[in-house]
Amino acid sequence: MSNIFQKKLMKLLVATILVFSLGMTASTWNTQAEDNSGDSNTTSEEPNLVFPVISDTQLGRAEGDPERFDNAMNQLNQLAPNQDAFVFIGDLTSHGYEEEYDTWSSIFNKHVQPQAEQLIGIGNHEYNYNGLTPKKSQQRFFDKTGMESLYYQKNIKGYDFIMMGEERGYFYSKEQVQWLGDQLKQSEQRDPNKPIFVFLHHGIKNTTYGTEDWYIENDNQRLLRETLKKYPQVVLVAGHTHYPVSDPKSIYQKDYTAVNSGSISYIWTEKGYLQGEVPRQRLVTDFL
Ligand SMILES: [Fe+2]
Repeated sequence: MSNIFQKKLMKLLVATILVFSLGMTASTWNTQAEDNSGDSNTTSEEPNLVFPVISDTQLGRAEGDPERFDNAMNQLNQLAPNQDAFVFIGDLTSHGYEEEYDTWSSIFNKHVQPQAEQLIGIGNHEYNYNGLTPKKSQQRFFDKTGMESLYYQKNIKGYDFIMMGEERGYFYSKEQVQWLGDQLKQSEQRDPNKPIFVFLHHGIKNTTYGTEDWYIENDNQRLLRETLKKYPQVVLVAGHTHYPVSDPKSIYQKDYTAVNSGSISYIWTEKGYLQGEVPRQRLVTDFL
């Protein structure tokens, strides 16, 4: 990635992506604003785009999770009172049960801003534990979220947003990866100087913190890695790991930019970091 493009991209990341996940509490945001106060190009400009990205509410897993989601949505609205889009990248539910979706929708619809374009993606927890076939799990996802397809592209205020969706737990088809390649190519042809936002549930191996432990390894995924590598303007956000976004490795830049969305339900870490699953009452509530 050229230094100029990287610099421009980081400015855009800080100035326009107001909130990536619950980990960006008010104090984190203030710190970021402070860090950029010496840059005359960012302080007085209105952001081009504002959109929160969160994931992994996993409603139905544990007591208190609906309240954590409600709290996160409240905080996001305080931090970003005028959002252009709202992105949720998978694992809305713990089992893909109807009542879990219903709880998710009641909280989401209560808070989501009416002007914000909604992009909701499907994760492995929408498939793996409900006893339904993948097709029926997908239909339930469509019925409950109002989304019309598993993967799609939207242009919001002149910027391309590409949502990918698992077609069963831990699986993106070759067709979908090729579709992504086509979308990236078209987006670059429209404007080679604009970032392209890509969202998916599982991150790319050995990019952000946690992806060294949690990743998909198959031919399609290798094709996905090769596809993304061609586009330094990609800003990819992924969830699933539950690893804390407070870790500096939550943003990764090499061939493109990757960002970890963290988790709204519980926090997970590598062995030895703390000790596996962090007791939720001691840490997650602090994040929120
Ligand atoms: Fe997941």
